[in-house]
Amino acid sequence: MVRKRVFSGVQPTGELHLGNWLGAIRNWVDLQKTHEAFFCVVDLHAITVPHDPNLLAQSSISTAALYMACGIDSKLSSIFLQSHIPAHSELCWLLNCVTPLNWLERMIQFKEKALKQGDNISVGLLDYPVLMAADILLYDSDLVPVGEDQKQHLELARDIAQSRINSRFGKENEPIFKIPKPLIMQEGAKIMSLADGNNKMSKSDPNESSRIGLLDPPDLIAKKIKRAKTDSQFGLEFDNPNRPEASNLLTIYSIISGLGKDKALKECSEMGWGQFKPLLTEATISALEPIQIHYQELIKNPKELNQVLNEGKLKANEIAEQTMNRLRKALGLQLQA
Ligand code: AMP
Ligand code: TRP
Repeated sequence: MVRKRVFSGVQPTGELHLGNWLGAIRNWVDLQKTHEAFFCVVDLHAITVPHDPNLLAQSSISTAALYMACGIDSKLSSIFLQSHIPAHSELCWLLNCVTPLNWLERMIQFKEKALKQGDNISVGLLDYPVLMAADILLYDSDLVPVGEDQKQHLELARDIAQSRINSRFGKENEPIFKIPKPLIMQEGAKIMSLADGNNKMSKSDPNESSRIGLLDPPDLIAKKIKRAKTDSQFGLEFDNPNRPEASNLLTIYSIISGLGKDKALKECSEMGWGQFKPLLTEATISALEPIQIHYQELIKNPKELNQVLNEGKLKANEIAEQTMNRLRKALGLQLQA
């Protein structure tokens, strides 16, 4: 039986945090056992806002190593850098030519990011979701595991594939693109900032204490959790709109302790913050410890990492080229004789 295909990616901007792990990468680990899996470090997305070239190069390798440290197995999954496959950029251009401008102008993430850029907004930032659609459609992906914030981008990718390419240029029983489905986990899909339970935990928040990096040492984790915003009520609980911090920290605890929602609630519903915070600290440190140990081993061995990325690139390139040939032909772009 042909296995269904999974595709996902994270931007190599800054260090990956708990939100990236719990909302996205954690779910990839199981999927790679049952699916044909492609996990990309989306470095072309990272340059849609101003960036430092030296940091980007380093961060791309480090992100790939973190994928592996979190349990992505290069024997089961193809791990590669987006910029190593020219077809991502080419497909993005072809999709640009059929995507209505107003579809992009209404993307929530664009509006949020554009606000932060002031008057320095690149065309690339607006075009970001089309590049993301290209990433996904290139590999005939069936499933795309992402956090809640990417849902709108996934819908855009489906719309472009269906109404702008398949129905215009495909034949009825021979679609050009497969229509991908998002996979958004019920728990952990939106981990909030430690500084404000109403804001998403994000790499771009200038306040470093708002997020826990996957590579943060134990004392820094302890410090950040100690500083994390709380409220004046006793006992932890989920889903009380007036207590976003309680719900967020209990969610993090329920996932990383492995207890699940019911048991975590039972354990913590009668607990004050002074008792809960050390518990959460302990659980976070022990959950991240194996990832950090594995990461340190991997990053010491750049040769092996490069080999993994090279193998990933070869496999990804082969599939990407097949898709591109199908589309070039359908659009009337002559294939080379
Ligand atoms: P990014 O950091 O924007 O490259 O996001 C990479 C992946 O992590 C995407 O699937 C996001 O949806 C997911 N993600 C990012 N931030 C969070 C968060 N705070 N909670 C849950 N998932 C997140
Ligand atoms: N836009 C995604 C994010 O910021 C990252 C991303 C780029 C992605 N291309 C993708 C995720 C393709 C899934 C599939 O989180």
